[in-house]
Amino acid sequence: MASKSRDGHFGAGDAATPSNAEAGTERIVLGDAYGTDGGVAGPRSPVPADGRKKFAKELVGCAGRYVGKTVLITGGSKGIGEGCARAFFEAGANVVICARGAADANRLVDELNSYAKMDSAANSAFFVRADVSKTADLQAMVDATIEKYGTLDCLINNAGWHPPPKTIDEFSIEDMQDLFQLNFISYFAACKFALPHLRKVGGNIINMSSLTGVFGQAQAPTYTATKGAITSFSKGLAIDEAKNGVRVNICSPGNIWTPLWKSWSDGEKDPDAAKEAGDKVQVMQRKGTIVENGRLCLSIASELTFTTGVDHIISGGAELGYGVK
Ligand SMILES: NC(=O)c1ccc[n+]([C@@H]2O[C@H](COP(=O)([O-])OP(=O)(O)OC[C@H]3O[C@@H](n4cnc5c(N)ncnc54)[C@H](OP(=O)(O)O)[C@@H]3O)[C@@H](O)[C@H]2O)c1
Repeated sequence: MASKSRDGHFGAGDAATPSNAEAGTERIVLGDAYGTDGGVAGPRSPVPADGRKKFAKELVGCAGRYVGKTVLITGGSKGIGEGCARAFFEAGANVVICARGAADANRLVDELNSYAKMDSAANSAFFVRADVSKTADLQAMVDATIEKYGTLDCLINNAGWHPPPKTIDEFSIEDMQDLFQLNFISYFAACKFALPHLRKVGGNIINMSSLTGVFGQAQAPTYTATKGAITSFSKGLAIDEAKNGVRVNICSPGNIWTPLWKSWSDGEKDPDAAKEAGDKVQVMQRKGTIVENGRLCLSIASELTFTTGVDHIISGGAELGYGVK
Protein backbone atom coordinates (compact mmCIF):
# COMPACT_ATOMS: atom_id res chain seq x y z
CA MET A 1 0.00 0.00 0.00
CA ALA A 2 1.25 3.49 -0.79
CA SER A 3 2.18 5.72 2.11
CA LYS A 4 -0.91 7.27 3.60
CA SER A 5 0.36 8.48 6.91
CA ARG A 6 -0.48 12.10 6.10
CA ASP A 7 -3.29 11.62 3.64
CA GLY A 8 -5.90 9.72 5.43
CA HIS A 9 -4.77 6.29 6.47
CA PHE A 10 -6.04 5.00 9.81
CA GLY A 11 -4.43 6.30 12.93
CA ALA A 12 -1.66 8.34 11.41
CA GLY A 13 -1.04 11.90 12.52
CA ASP A 14 -2.93 11.55 15.76
CA ALA A 15 -1.82 14.87 17.14
CA ALA A 16 -4.29 14.68 20.00
CA THR A 17 -2.75 11.53 21.41
CA PRO A 18 0.42 11.84 23.49
CA SER A 19 3.14 9.22 23.07
CA ASN A 20 3.75 6.91 25.99
CA ALA A 21 6.86 8.80 26.95
CA GLU A 22 5.06 12.14 26.70
CA ALA A 23 2.17 10.89 28.80
CA GLY A 24 4.61 10.49 31.68
CA THR A 25 2.56 8.65 34.27
CA GLU A 26 1.62 5.40 32.55
CA ARG A 27 3.74 3.71 29.94
CA ILE A 28 0.79 2.54 27.90
CA VAL A 29 -2.09 4.92 27.43
CA LEU A 30 -4.63 5.98 24.93
CA GLY A 31 -4.90 9.76 24.89
CA ASP A 32 -7.72 11.67 26.50
CA ALA A 33 -9.19 12.10 23.03
CA TYR A 34 -10.34 8.49 23.15
CA GLY A 35 -12.96 9.37 25.72
CA THR A 36 -12.03 6.79 28.33
CA ASP A 37 -13.18 7.48 31.85
CA GLY A 38 -9.94 6.03 33.13
CA GLY A 39 -11.56 2.88 34.37
CA VAL A 40 -13.34 4.53 37.27
CA ALA A 41 -16.70 2.88 37.68
CA GLY A 42 -18.79 5.84 36.63
CA PRO A 43 -22.52 6.35 36.73
CA ARG A 44 -24.52 4.38 34.22
CA SER A 45 -25.55 6.50 31.27
CA PRO A 46 -29.14 6.42 30.08
CA VAL A 47 -29.82 3.88 27.36
CA PRO A 48 -30.18 5.75 24.05
CA ALA A 49 -33.75 5.25 22.87
CA ASP A 50 -32.85 5.26 19.18
CA GLY A 51 -29.83 2.94 19.48
CA ARG A 52 -31.65 -0.01 18.01
CA LYS A 53 -33.03 1.98 15.10
CA LYS A 54 -29.62 3.39 14.25
CA PHE A 55 -28.06 -0.04 13.66
CA ALA A 56 -31.18 -2.00 12.63
CA LYS A 57 -30.56 -2.00 8.87
CA GLU A 58 -26.96 -3.07 9.18
CA LEU A 59 -27.87 -5.88 11.55
CA VAL A 60 -30.48 -7.48 9.28
CA GLY A 61 -29.72 -11.15 8.84
CA CYS A 62 -27.70 -11.55 12.06
CA ALA A 63 -30.56 -12.82 14.22
CA GLY A 64 -30.36 -16.42 15.39
CA ARG A 65 -26.88 -17.17 14.06
CA TYR A 66 -24.98 -17.66 17.36
CA VAL A 67 -27.67 -18.59 19.86
CA GLY A 68 -26.54 -20.21 23.10
CA LYS A 69 -22.89 -19.27 22.50
CA THR A 70 -20.64 -16.92 24.43
CA VAL A 71 -18.20 -14.42 22.89
CA LEU A 72 -15.54 -12.43 24.73
CA ILE A 73 -14.48 -9.20 23.00
CA THR A 74 -11.51 -7.12 24.17
CA GLY A 75 -12.08 -3.45 23.46
CA GLY A 76 -15.76 -4.27 23.02
CA SER A 77 -17.11 -0.94 24.27
CA LYS A 78 -16.27 1.27 21.28
CA GLY A 79 -15.28 1.18 17.63
CA ILE A 80 -14.78 -2.17 15.90
CA GLY A 81 -15.25 -4.07 19.18
CA GLU A 82 -18.64 -2.39 19.65
CA GLY A 83 -19.59 -3.44 16.11
CA CYS A 84 -18.70 -7.02 17.02
CA ALA A 85 -20.69 -6.79 20.28
CA ARG A 86 -23.78 -5.55 18.39
CA ALA A 87 -23.59 -8.22 15.68
CA PHE A 88 -23.00 -11.13 18.10
CA PHE A 89 -25.70 -9.93 20.49
CA GLU A 90 -28.19 -9.66 17.63
CA ALA A 91 -27.16 -13.21 16.70
CA GLY A 92 -28.31 -14.42 20.12
CA ALA A 93 -24.92 -14.81 21.83
CA ASN A 94 -23.97 -13.86 25.35
CA VAL A 95 -21.50 -11.01 24.90
CA VAL A 96 -18.70 -10.23 27.35
CA ILE A 97 -17.25 -6.78 26.78
CA CYS A 98 -13.79 -5.98 28.11
CA ALA A 99 -12.45 -2.43 28.28
CA ARG A 100 -10.78 -0.09 30.76
CA GLY A 101 -13.54 2.52 30.82
CA ALA A 102 -16.72 1.55 32.65
CA ALA A 103 -19.03 4.33 31.43
CA ASP A 104 -19.00 3.48 27.70
CA ALA A 105 -19.02 -0.25 28.38
CA ASN A 106 -21.93 -0.06 30.82
CA ARG A 107 -23.90 2.13 28.41
CA LEU A 108 -23.57 -0.50 25.69
CA VAL A 109 -24.23 -3.42 28.06
CA ASP A 110 -27.40 -1.73 29.39
CA GLU A 111 -28.57 -0.95 25.87
CA LEU A 112 -28.08 -4.52 24.64
CA ASN A 113 -29.71 -6.00 27.74
CA SER A 114 -32.71 -3.72 27.24
CA TYR A 115 -33.19 -5.27 23.75
CA ALA A 116 -33.05 -8.78 25.20
CA LYS A 117 -35.72 -7.78 27.70
CA MET A 118 -37.93 -6.30 24.95
CA ASP A 119 -37.59 -9.49 22.90
CA SER A 120 -37.76 -11.89 25.88
CA ALA A 121 -34.45 -13.24 24.57
CA ALA A 122 -32.29 -15.46 26.74
CA ASN A 123 -28.93 -13.88 25.98
CA SER A 124 -27.25 -11.07 27.90
CA ALA A 125 -24.27 -8.71 27.81
CA PHE A 126 -21.74 -8.36 30.62
CA PHE A 127 -18.88 -5.93 31.28
CA VAL A 128 -15.51 -7.02 32.65
CA ARG A 129 -13.09 -4.24 33.38
CA ALA A 130 -9.61 -5.16 32.18
CA ASP A 131 -6.51 -3.44 30.86
CA VAL A 132 -5.20 -5.83 28.23
CA SER A 133 -1.64 -4.61 28.73
CA LYS A 134 -1.78 -6.27 32.16
CA THR A 135 -1.50 -10.04 31.98
CA ALA A 136 -3.26 -10.58 35.32
CA ASP A 137 -6.28 -8.64 34.01
CA LEU A 138 -6.51 -11.00 31.02
CA GLN A 139 -6.60 -14.12 33.19
CA ALA A 140 -9.22 -12.47 35.43
CA MET A 141 -11.25 -11.51 32.33
CA VAL A 142 -11.38 -15.13 31.11
CA ASP A 143 -12.16 -16.38 34.63
CA ALA A 144 -15.01 -13.87 34.99
CA THR A 145 -16.47 -15.00 31.65
CA ILE A 146 -16.47 -18.64 32.69
CA GLU A 147 -17.89 -17.78 36.10
CA LYS A 148 -20.75 -15.84 34.48
CA TYR A 149 -21.62 -18.05 31.49
CA GLY A 150 -19.84 -21.37 32.18
CA THR A 151 -18.41 -21.58 28.66
CA LEU A 152 -16.49 -19.64 26.02
CA ASP A 153 -17.11 -20.22 22.31
CA CYS A 154 -15.33 -17.29 20.66
CA LEU A 155 -12.53 -14.95 21.73
CA ILE A 156 -12.11 -11.74 19.75
CA ASN A 157 -8.79 -10.04 20.52
CA ASN A 158 -9.37 -6.49 19.36
CA ALA A 159 -8.15 -3.87 21.86
CA GLY A 160 -5.11 -2.07 20.53
CA TRP A 161 -3.57 1.29 19.77
CA HIS A 162 -1.97 3.11 16.86
CA PRO A 163 0.70 5.60 18.00
CA PRO A 164 1.20 8.97 16.31
CA PRO A 165 3.33 8.87 13.14
CA LYS A 166 7.08 8.74 13.75
CA THR A 167 10.14 7.18 12.19
CA ILE A 168 12.33 4.57 13.85
CA ASP A 169 14.68 7.37 14.96
CA GLU A 170 11.90 8.94 16.98
CA PHE A 171 10.62 5.76 18.64
CA SER A 172 12.54 4.50 21.67
CA ILE A 173 13.14 0.84 22.25
CA GLU A 174 10.86 1.16 25.27
CA ASP A 175 8.10 2.51 22.96
CA MET A 176 8.43 -0.62 20.84
CA GLN A 177 8.39 -2.92 23.87
CA ASP A 178 5.33 -1.18 25.30
CA LEU A 179 3.40 -1.37 22.05
CA PHE A 180 4.30 -5.03 21.67
CA GLN A 181 2.92 -5.67 25.14
CA LEU A 182 -0.31 -3.80 24.41
CA ASN A 183 -0.97 -4.86 20.81
CA PHE A 184 0.58 -8.33 20.63
CA ILE A 185 1.53 -9.96 23.95
CA SER A 186 -2.02 -9.25 25.14
CA TYR A 187 -3.39 -11.33 22.22
CA PHE A 188 -0.92 -14.15 22.95
CA ALA A 189 -1.82 -14.17 26.65
CA ALA A 190 -5.59 -13.99 26.09
CA CYS A 191 -5.34 -16.93 23.65
CA LYS A 192 -3.30 -18.90 26.18
CA PHE A 193 -5.85 -18.32 28.97
CA ALA A 194 -8.92 -18.87 26.76
CA LEU A 195 -7.76 -21.99 24.91
CA PRO A 196 -8.46 -24.54 27.68
CA HIS A 197 -12.12 -23.41 27.53
CA LEU A 198 -12.31 -23.07 23.74
CA ARG A 199 -10.96 -26.62 23.28
CA LYS A 200 -13.84 -28.02 25.34
CA VAL A 201 -16.45 -26.68 22.92
CA GLY A 202 -14.66 -26.57 19.55
CA GLY A 203 -14.56 -22.79 19.74
CA ASN A 204 -12.68 -20.22 17.73
CA ILE A 205 -10.42 -17.18 18.00
CA ILE A 206 -10.50 -14.03 15.87
CA ASN A 207 -7.45 -11.77 16.15
CA MET A 208 -7.93 -8.18 14.96
CA SER A 209 -4.88 -7.32 12.92
CA SER A 210 -4.64 -4.65 10.21
CA LEU A 211 -4.09 -4.33 6.50
CA THR A 212 -0.86 -2.56 7.47
CA GLY A 213 0.45 -5.79 9.01
CA VAL A 214 0.89 -7.14 5.48
CA PHE A 215 1.29 -4.01 3.34
CA GLY A 216 3.15 -1.71 5.76
CA GLN A 217 2.48 1.93 6.53
CA ALA A 218 4.71 4.99 6.53
CA GLN A 219 5.81 6.36 9.90
CA ALA A 220 4.35 3.39 11.70
CA PRO A 221 7.21 0.93 12.11
CA THR A 222 6.16 -0.12 15.62
CA TYR A 223 2.45 -0.48 14.82
CA THR A 224 2.98 -2.46 11.63
CA ALA A 225 5.39 -4.77 13.48
CA THR A 226 2.74 -5.59 16.09
CA LYS A 227 0.11 -6.23 13.43
CA GLY A 228 2.45 -8.42 11.37
CA ALA A 229 3.14 -10.40 14.53
CA ILE A 230 -0.58 -10.88 15.15
CA THR A 231 -1.10 -12.19 11.62
CA SER A 232 1.81 -14.64 11.63
CA PHE A 233 1.15 -15.79 15.22
CA SER A 234 -2.46 -16.56 14.32
CA LYS A 235 -1.42 -18.69 11.36
CA GLY A 236 1.03 -20.68 13.49
CA LEU A 237 -1.52 -21.13 16.25
CA ALA A 238 -4.14 -22.25 13.72
CA ILE A 239 -1.92 -25.18 12.75
CA ASP A 240 -1.40 -26.35 16.34
CA GLU A 241 -5.01 -25.87 17.43
CA ALA A 242 -6.63 -27.63 14.47
CA LYS A 243 -5.99 -30.94 16.20
CA ASN A 244 -7.79 -29.56 19.26
CA GLY A 245 -10.81 -28.53 17.21
CA VAL A 246 -10.21 -24.78 17.62
CA ARG A 247 -10.11 -22.47 14.60
CA VAL A 248 -7.92 -19.35 14.68
CA ASN A 249 -8.59 -16.61 12.16
CA ILE A 250 -7.38 -13.09 11.47
CA CYS A 251 -9.42 -10.02 10.61
CA SER A 252 -7.50 -7.25 8.85
CA PRO A 253 -9.42 -3.98 8.57
CA GLY A 254 -8.36 -1.12 6.34
CA ASN A 255 -10.14 2.10 7.28
CA ILE A 256 -13.10 1.64 9.61
CA TRP A 257 -14.80 4.74 11.02
CA THR A 258 -14.24 4.52 14.79
CA PRO A 259 -13.40 6.81 17.72
CA LEU A 260 -9.74 5.98 17.04
CA TRP A 261 -10.01 7.16 13.43
CA LYS A 262 -11.97 10.25 14.52
CA SER A 263 -9.42 11.17 17.15
CA TRP A 264 -6.81 11.28 14.40
CA SER A 265 -8.85 13.33 11.92
CA ASP A 266 -10.01 15.71 14.70
CA GLY A 267 -6.35 16.40 15.45
CA GLU A 268 -5.65 17.49 11.86
CA LYS A 269 -5.83 21.13 10.73
CA ASP A 270 -8.89 20.43 8.59
CA PRO A 271 -10.75 17.45 10.14
CA ASP A 272 -13.35 17.25 7.35
CA ALA A 273 -10.67 17.19 4.65
CA ALA A 274 -8.75 14.53 6.59
CA LYS A 275 -11.88 12.42 6.91
CA GLU A 276 -12.66 12.80 3.22
CA ALA A 277 -9.10 11.92 2.21
CA GLY A 278 -9.58 8.71 4.20
CA ASP A 279 -12.61 7.84 2.06
CA LYS A 280 -10.61 8.16 -1.17
CA VAL A 281 -8.15 5.49 -0.12
CA GLN A 282 -10.74 2.79 -0.92
CA VAL A 283 -12.01 1.79 -4.37
CA MET A 284 -15.42 1.87 -2.64
CA GLN A 285 -14.81 5.55 -1.79
CA ARG A 286 -15.88 5.28 1.84
CA LYS A 287 -14.71 3.87 5.14
CA GLY A 288 -16.14 0.69 6.57
CA THR A 289 -18.58 0.70 9.48
CA ILE A 290 -18.13 -0.97 12.83
CA VAL A 291 -21.11 -3.25 12.19
CA GLU A 292 -19.72 -4.34 8.79
CA ASN A 293 -16.62 -5.41 10.68
CA GLY A 294 -18.75 -7.11 13.34
CA ARG A 295 -20.71 -9.00 10.69
CA LEU A 296 -17.49 -10.34 9.17
CA CYS A 297 -16.43 -11.63 12.61
CA LEU A 298 -19.87 -13.19 13.15
CA SER A 299 -19.59 -14.98 9.81
CA ILE A 300 -16.13 -16.31 10.69
CA ALA A 301 -17.39 -17.57 14.06
CA SER A 302 -20.73 -18.97 12.99
CA GLU A 303 -20.64 -20.04 9.34
CA LEU A 304 -17.09 -20.28 8.02
CA THR A 305 -16.50 -23.59 9.79
CA PHE A 306 -13.91 -24.91 7.29
CA THR A 307 -11.79 -21.78 7.63
CA THR A 308 -8.72 -21.46 9.83
CA GLY A 309 -5.48 -19.46 9.67
CA VAL A 310 -7.04 -17.14 7.11
CA ASP A 311 -6.39 -13.40 6.99
CA HIS A 312 -9.85 -11.95 6.31
CA ILE A 313 -9.30 -8.51 4.76
CA ILE A 314 -12.09 -5.94 5.21
CA SER A 315 -10.86 -2.89 3.36
CA GLY A 316 -13.28 -1.67 0.67
CA GLY A 317 -10.51 -2.48 -1.82
CA ALA A 318 -7.92 -0.10 -0.31
CA GLU A 319 -5.08 -2.41 -1.31
CA LEU A 320 -6.15 -2.61 -4.99
CA GLY A 321 -4.33 -0.57 -7.62
CA TYR A 322 -2.06 2.37 -6.82
CA GLY A 323 -2.66 5.45 -4.66
CA VAL A 324 -5.82 7.53 -4.42
CA LYS A 325 -8.73 5.94 -6.27
N1 LIG B 1 -10.28 1.72 12.88
C1 LIG B 1 -9.55 1.27 11.88
O1 LIG B 1 -9.58 1.80 10.76
C2 LIG B 1 -8.63 0.08 12.12
C3 LIG B 1 -7.89 -0.39 11.01
C4 LIG B 1 -7.06 -1.50 11.17
C5 LIG B 1 -6.96 -2.12 12.40
N2 LIG B 1 -7.67 -1.62 13.46
C6 LIG B 1 -7.52 -2.34 14.74
O2 LIG B 1 -8.80 -2.61 15.29
C7 LIG B 1 -8.74 -2.59 16.71
C8 LIG B 1 -9.80 -1.63 17.25
O3 LIG B 1 -9.58 -0.35 16.70
P1 LIG B 1 -10.68 0.82 16.83
O4 LIG B 1 -10.41 1.77 15.74
O5 LIG B 1 -12.02 0.26 17.02
O6 LIG B 1 -10.19 1.49 18.22
P2 LIG B 1 -10.97 2.48 19.23
O7 LIG B 1 -12.03 3.20 18.52
O8 LIG B 1 -9.88 3.26 19.89
O9 LIG B 1 -11.62 1.48 20.31
C9 LIG B 1 -10.73 0.76 21.12
C10 LIG B 1 -11.47 -0.10 22.12
O10 LIG B 1 -10.48 -0.81 22.88
C11 LIG B 1 -10.56 -0.47 24.27
N3 LIG B 1 -9.18 -0.42 24.78
C12 LIG B 1 -8.18 0.38 24.40
N4 LIG B 1 -7.07 0.12 25.11
C13 LIG B 1 -7.38 -0.88 25.96
C14 LIG B 1 -6.66 -1.58 26.96
N5 LIG B 1 -5.38 -1.30 27.24
N6 LIG B 1 -7.30 -2.54 27.65
C15 LIG B 1 -8.61 -2.85 27.39
N7 LIG B 1 -9.34 -2.22 26.45
C16 LIG B 1 -8.73 -1.23 25.76
C17 LIG B 1 -11.29 0.88 24.29
O11 LIG B 1 -12.00 1.11 25.50
P3 LIG B 1 -11.28 1.89 26.72
O12 LIG B 1 -10.59 3.06 26.13
O13 LIG B 1 -12.39 2.24 27.65
O14 LIG B 1 -10.34 0.90 27.34
C18 LIG B 1 -12.28 0.68 23.14
O15 LIG B 1 -13.36 -0.12 23.56
C19 LIG B 1 -7.30 -2.21 17.07
O16 LIG B 1 -6.56 -3.37 17.34
C20 LIG B 1 -6.79 -1.53 15.81
O17 LIG B 1 -5.40 -1.64 15.66
C21 LIG B 1 -8.48 -0.54 13.34
